Amino acid sequence: MSTATTRILLVDDDDDLLRLLAIRLEGAGYGVLTTNKAEQALAMISRERPHLVITDLRMPGMDGAALFEAIRAMHSSLPVIILTAHGTIPDAVAATNRGVFGYLTKPYDAQELLTQVEQALRLSVIGDSSKRHSASWRARIVTQSPLMESLLAQAQLVAASDASVMLYGESGTGKELLAQAIHQASARAKKPFVAVNCGAIPENLLESELFGYVRGAFTGANKDYIGLVREADGGTLFLDEIGDMPLPLQVKLLRMLEQREVRPLGEAKLHPVNIRVISATHRNLDVEMAEGRFRSDLFYRLKVVALSIPALSERRDDIPLLARHFLHVLADRYQKEVNGFSPEAMDLLIRARWSGNVRQLLNVVEQAVALSTGPIVPLMLIQNAIQTLEDIVPFDEARRRFEADYLTRLLKMTGGNVASAASLAQRNRTDFYKLLQRHSLEPALFK
Ligand SMILES: Nc1ncnc2c1ncn2[C@@H]1O[C@H](COP(=O)(O)OP(=O)(O)OP(=O)(O)O)[C@@H](O)[C@H]1O
Ligand SMILES: [Mg+2]
Repeated sequence: MSTATTRILLVDDDDDLLRLLAIRLEGAGYGVLTTNKAEQALAMISRERPHLVITDLRMPGMDGAALFEAIRAMHSSLPVIILTAHGTIPDAVAATNRGVFGYLTKPYDAQELLTQVEQALRLSVIGDSSKRHSASWRARIVTQSPLMESLLAQAQLVAASDASVMLYGESGTGKELLAQAIHQASARAKKPFVAVNCGAIPENLLESELFGYVRGAFTGANKDYIGLVREADGGTLFLDEIGDMPLPLQVKLLRMLEQREVRPLGEAKLHPVNIRVISATHRNLDVEMAEGRFRSDLFYRLKVVALSIPALSERRDDIPLLARHFLHVLADRYQKEVNGFSPEAMDLLIRARWSGNVRQLLNVVEQAVALSTGPIVPLMLIQNAIQTLEDIVPFDEARRRFEADYLTRLLKMTGGNVASAASLAQRNRTDFYKLLQRHSLEPALFK
């Protein structure tokens, strides 16, 4: 970003400090605007569109924390650095809680000032700050990525309709968060949002969890239960990991969606329900359908609109923003005075692989905050946290790798003879072919 066009707004009730700060920043080539009143600052932001705000915390009238809240509400991508006297950092963190870019402690160090300013400015998108909004439906989704912005615009459109939505996205990309946001943006917002993880509930329990039961319907059913579908009545039912739903239950789910009625286990009566369904999966449902594990009629009913959440590695511009957001939230939760990353630590965060996406980033930051002993998270802590977590692959991925290795060994042993390989694996040839296809293994290559 060229500093010639970059404007910084300084807010402090101490005029001497304002002047000093202004001289220093102008000396570094920035355009500087100043005011000694937070109330005025808001008007100046709308008029002048600065790229960064540096504000004192304690001021008569509107204070720095309130100013920050107002900026968050109206100009969510405008970075704010808070100036604070020694000892008030926990207040600052508690007051602002999320999103504030950083703190400078008075008396500030000139170099530290310039470093923080540069880092903050990297976040600021020129000319865009006024367009940003943190409407409440999407308030929990922290992002500045254009990819995510266009996804959210689509999500908002879909929310207004009652269409079924299918969310695709690798594990940890924020599928559940987006499902909640769609619910919040919809006319159903005041009604319940009920999430069901179809992969986590044992097959025999899933049906009764979803559709409910009457007392005595099966052993252990000692009172009536209305079930999750009816709990979501009027609102949104989020079917997470829908790709894991067993086939017999898929039939029942489809019937329920078509007839808009639920029949609890052991009951003759049908109960009308009015729900919107949002489903999510990290599986490739085209493959699941091709291999007969997912019904296509159900698929088309659930996927009236499909939205794909990009992997974190496809929107690295979100990493600094998310990392700082998590850092502030966690520092607050752990009651620790950690308020930033060293430049090297941030660099590694930006470059890392992030196969576990936002969830993994959250875990890395959490581990770093828990172990950090100073105000700035050093490179070492990030390195360690990423290593420990990268070593652990998710269960599905581990199983996929194991299967691929196993099939490769069989093909090598049999010189690519599918019939012999299948019989060694005690599978029929058709099944075995499907397995090979799923792992893109070509038997001819093993001859
Ligand atoms: N853009 C974001 N801003 C803030 N927090 C986020 C964002 N995306 C994800 N998170 C957080 O990351 C974690 C994982 O998100 P979520 O559970 O929605 O992902 P998911 O895609 O459903 O993951 P999984 O496939 O593992 O179930 C949650 O704690 C969520 O709050
Ligand atoms: Mg999830």
